[in-house]
Amino acid sequence: MKTYFFVGKGGVGKTSISSAYAVGLAKKRIKTLIVSLDPAHNLGDALNMDVFGKIVKVSDFLDATEVNIDKKIVDYLSLMSEKMKNTYRYLSVLNIDRYFDILKNSPGIEEYVTLEAIKEFLQLDYDAIVFDTPPTGITLRVFAMPRISVIWTNSLIEMRRRILTKRQMVENVKGPIKDVINGEEVKIPSNEKEDPVMQELFSYKSDMIKLTERFSSLDNYVSIVTMAEELAFEESKRIRGALRENNIRLSSIYLNKYLEIENPPPELLGKIEEQKRVLEEMKKEFSNIEIKKIPLLRSSPRGIEALYQLYQNYISN
Ligand SMILES: Nc1ncnc2c1ncn2[C@@H]1O[C@H](COP(=O)(O)OP(=O)(O)OP(=O)(O)O)[C@@H](O)[C@H]1O
Ligand SMILES: [Mg+2]
Repeated sequence: MKTYFFVGKGGVGKTSISSAYAVGLAKKRIKTLIVSLDPAHNLGDALNMDVFGKIVKVSDFLDATEVNIDKKIVDYLSLMSEKMKNTYRYLSVLNIDRYFDILKNSPGIEEYVTLEAIKEFLQLDYDAIVFDTPPTGITLRVFAMPRISVIWTNSLIEMRRRILTKRQMVENVKGPIKDVINGEEVKIPSNEKEDPVMQELFSYKSDMIKLTERFSSLDNYVSIVTMAEELAFEESKRIRGALRENNIRLSSIYLNKYLEIENPPPELLGKIEEQKRVLEEMKKEFSNIEIKKIPLLRSSPRGIEALYQLYQNYISN
């Protein structure tokens, strides 16, 4: 499976270019899914159809969906609180449901759930998945999360190991450790295989390692979508830096909405100058990366046909 991520500032054309790319893949008979991970979705608008919260068939080889992030957060927290209640039975006394609202709005949860969503999509049977991403800051934190998570999971595993070792020491002296929870006698696990917390940590770590590998793999294509403007250029450099930090290859740059005018009116001369300057600087700065220039089109590309035109004229070559 190949994965494609289109990253960039708001309004630069991530949705248009990612959906045009997906339409192009599908026309080549590659079984493709396009996913919008941006909570402020506009994929449905580009495709001219409602794809919110469900996977919808767009054409023979193309499916599309906008992830319902709010629902995902609630589902994820419910699942976690169930797991925690089963693992730590005393939590039913603590009533963790009370903390739901706080957790729902806690920092980082959106990135976390976005990563979970990516993980789930990767398990589906597609040959290509194209991701239209949220604003840059969130996307970059999502990319960093697997690597960071492996580091802190390792620390948690070490802590858990120390707890289990202490339990074994107690067991050696006093025999199996038991506790009574809700009138029921339960044995407290003291070895890694029986300990659900340790098993959860191992399984989580293994998931995060797989994601790190996927993000760094040669089958993962990350493109920056940007415009020939100073601020967008600065952001592109920051994106490249963050990708490097996480061992993620930058595949290409789409320089969108490039104004091509024969005789520009005086009001636009400054803008045209800036465009040229930024394009030149970009070519120098990103000398080893393909920069694809896409002009500002006469009308917003909407619907499969217009997106395919966009793909054929400016993306495929
Ligand atoms: N090359 C182009 N020529 C003309 N209009 C374009 C071009 N690319 C994108 N647009 C239009 O610009 C607007 C913003 O594009 P798009 O929605 O693809 O950007 P985005 O990066 O996904 O934005 P957001 O961050 O809001 O999700 C849309 O109306 C889109 O149709
Ligand atoms: Mg968009």
